[in-house]
Amino acid sequence: MNMREMIEAAAARYPDRRSAIMPALLIAQKEHGHLPGPVLEEVADILGVERVWVYELATFYTLFHTEPVGLFHLQLCDNLSCMLRRSDDLLRHLETVLGIEKGGTTPDGLFTLSTVECLGACEMAPVMQVGDDYHGDLDIARIDALVDRLRAAAGQATGAELAVAEPPGE
Ligand code: FES
Repeated sequence: MNMREMIEAAAARYPDRRSAIMPALLIAQKEHGHLPGPVLEEVADILGVERVWVYELATFYTLFHTEPVGLFHLQLCDNLSCMLRRSDDLLRHLETVLGIEKGGTTPDGLFTLSTVECLGACEMAPVMQVGDDYHGDLDIARIDALVDRLRAAAGQATGAELAVAEPPGE
């Protein structure tokens, strides 16, 4: 199925096509990597909804990216539970290791570093989302190991083929 067909299939599950904007945006983001203006307008046109409704959702939620992001988007939670477990130290460490500041992307396009609101996984704080995966109970050593695994994975594959699961015991 192409993007239009997938969005149509998603819309068919809702009584109101406006309710399908979020799943449609996820489909479009998977297809394009991020959501620039023309893609947002295409989503609105496919659904037949006001473009401003699509823009509102795409710019409100951190899971949507209107700007290009690196191959790996490191989204570190900095809300209360994670902050109490020193997510600020992890952020500083990541900025040092990657050589970028929060919001930046490494020159090689591998990593984008962001902080996000609660990921809903406070029980394993501090938590970072990378793609669809959550990495919890993080400390400096685990961060370093994760970055190493991501770099190694980037050397072996690209895009959706990447698998960066934690090894057993981590
Ligand atoms: S505060 Fe970080 S996952 Fe909830």
